[in-house]
Amino acid sequence: MPEAIEWLDGKLKILDQSKLPREQIFVDLNDYRDVVLAIKDMQVRGAPAIGVAVAYGIALGASGIKAKGKGEFLAELDRVMQAFAASRPTAVNLFQAINRMKKAASGHDVAGIKNSLINEAQQIHREEISATRKLSQIGTELIKDGFTLLTHCNAGPLATAGYGTALGVIKAAKEQGKKVSVFATETRPLLQGARLTTWELTQERIPVTLITDSMAGYFMRQKKIDCVIVGADRIAANGDVANKIGTYTLAVLAKETKIPFYVAAPTSTIDLSLGSGDKIPIEERSPEEVTHIQGVPIAPQGVRAANPAFDVTPDRYVSAIITEKGIIRRPYKEGLRRAASRFR
Ligand code: MRU
Repeated sequence: MPEAIEWLDGKLKILDQSKLPREQIFVDLNDYRDVVLAIKDMQVRGAPAIGVAVAYGIALGASGIKAKGKGEFLAELDRVMQAFAASRPTAVNLFQAINRMKKAASGHDVAGIKNSLINEAQQIHREEISATRKLSQIGTELIKDGFTLLTHCNAGPLATAGYGTALGVIKAAKEQGKKVSVFATETRPLLQGARLTTWELTQERIPVTLITDSMAGYFMRQKKIDCVIVGADRIAANGDVANKIGTYTLAVLAKETKIPFYVAAPTSTIDLSLGSGDKIPIEERSPEEVTHIQGVPIAPQGVRAANPAFDVTPDRYVSAIITEKGIIRRPYKEGLRRAASRFR
């Protein structure tokens, strides 16, 4: 599998996820503003991968600041961080990365801070690789030999700059010799399931069936699915989970048909500052992503369209949250608090 994100010779190299699977294009980013755009345009996407890209983007921005005095340098660095903070609002990994980079910028001269920021970004990347590997191993406890899993959006190596979360658990189960297969929802409007999840699973030689989002309930009622497993963009302190739009629908269907609904996420996705999911900011994206598919119009010109990119699944629909610190079950508050505070 090609690397989704790499720091090479002081530059950021990304695999452009908006073009996959038709084209495999790597882009070198030398300017932090291009990293901000790559995040907005979803060339880099998926909560943990966004966090890693933001950290490297800030390091890149810092290295381009000409100011010699520390005060002026820090003021410019703050503007760089603000640009990232405004890029995508839902994935908390983005804000966790900014906070860590802020802390890494204290107490040195300008050259020292620039170095510390590169080191911190690399450390964040290493931690995501290790956390996603570990949570994937831990999650296999829930996957039996012969299971068919349903997943939504894309929560594999592309989305994590690591091993994957939901797809990581599936990959690790296969590595243990379990026979597993997957139903992947296409994930309208931007088709991360159809374009990216099927691409990753095919390379891993894991059998995958692509379905449209609206087919999930049909297959659940037919008892073709043993469990649902998804990633997360932000998990509130009470266990409410924000993830790609359509996740809530799947969770309700899973409960109705008595299928376990699992969320796999590193602890960097937990936001203890929010008591519940009601407070999670939901990104509203361009209506064009709904009225068009890959640039081709599919609706009458001028029709009104809505495009919330995420929804929130209340904790009562979530059977377990798989993290690198262990599997957490309801009531989530104490388990999430312990898992996330050990991380910080
Ligand atoms: O809008 P995207 O493609 O960035 O949304 C991604 C998701 O919703 C993923 O499920 C989530 O970030 C978890 S990725 C391990």
